[in-house]
Amino acid sequence: MKTKNLLILPLFALCATSCSLNGVAHDISEYMLTIDVDVTKDFNILQLTDIHLGDTDDLDLHFKFMDLTIKDANADMIVVTGDLFTFASQATAHRLFAYFDSKGIPWTVTFGNHDEQCMFSVEWLTSTLNNWGGNCKFKDIQDDNVTGNANFAINLRNKDDHTKIHEQIVILDSNRYYFGSYFGYDYIKQDQIDWYESLVKATKALNGGTTVESLMFAHIPVPEINDAYAAYERGETGVTLLHGTKGEKCCPPDVNSGFYDKIKGLNSTKGIYYGHDHKNDFIIDYHGIHIGYGIHSTDRVYYDETKMGGLVITVKPTHNIVYNPIRHTYKEVK
Ligand SMILES: [Fe+2]
Repeated sequence: MKTKNLLILPLFALCATSCSLNGVAHDISEYMLTIDVDVTKDFNILQLTDIHLGDTDDLDLHFKFMDLTIKDANADMIVVTGDLFTFASQATAHRLFAYFDSKGIPWTVTFGNHDEQCMFSVEWLTSTLNNWGGNCKFKDIQDDNVTGNANFAINLRNKDDHTKIHEQIVILDSNRYYFGSYFGYDYIKQDQIDWYESLVKATKALNGGTTVESLMFAHIPVPEINDAYAAYERGETGVTLLHGTKGEKCCPPDVNSGFYDKIKGLNSTKGIYYGHDHKNDFIIDYHGIHIGYGIHSTDRVYYDETKMGGLVITVKPTHNIVYNPIRHTYKEVK
């Protein structure tokens, strides 16, 4: 999202996405968490995004607002796609995490470009989440050689056959800002693309040689978000708008590092869900891969009154994916 007035960039943030590059290699299995699921039933993922809580906010009001969506969602899991905070202290972060934990279902997050604009580092967020316990499903390896602070997977394993992974949830850190050949939103680095390829191949091996279908959650979209929307607009065969609308320019990074082509080639990920652009909530079936946005989950920073709530992404037993957009207004809680 585009709030350049909020660009406070402490020096420590400059290395937030690069310090890990000198880290050590870890076995890909160390990046996997597990949830056992009943594969005969739907699995409902509630995507929340761009909460942007800060210390001057009325947290109870925002919690009441998100409660409306969570109550409607009948979710088996909550995934938050970044920009959890802006100008927040550790106490505010603790309150948000305790709020999620109180819902009694697994929850996880990835980070957005604004999560470094706080009174803590993104590394502190990562460490806090790594050690949160409770219902939190988060595991970034902090001394590794993969760029970013939230790269891991949650395997939805068949509860009746632990040799089978029903579906995989890939959490990826789309990083924050880039200060190289351009200044703007960062992009997915080659080491992350290599990590993703290792993940898909290792998961296939764990699943007896059959590729596991996956859903990916990140904050900043890949540049192909624009290609997908343009293809929809010109009525290209094999491209369908599944729900939502475009309410603003999409803001991917200037650099295309080839990640989407890798995703297509590996044929595992069938849905890619972003935050970042608060007024976009469309999802497009782009030649077999669903790509698009969640629904802005508070009224923080900038918003469209008709596009606030959350998105339920249901994985059917057949692996079909269906969507239930949930929308509310702050008039319901004020
Ligand atoms: Fe945002």
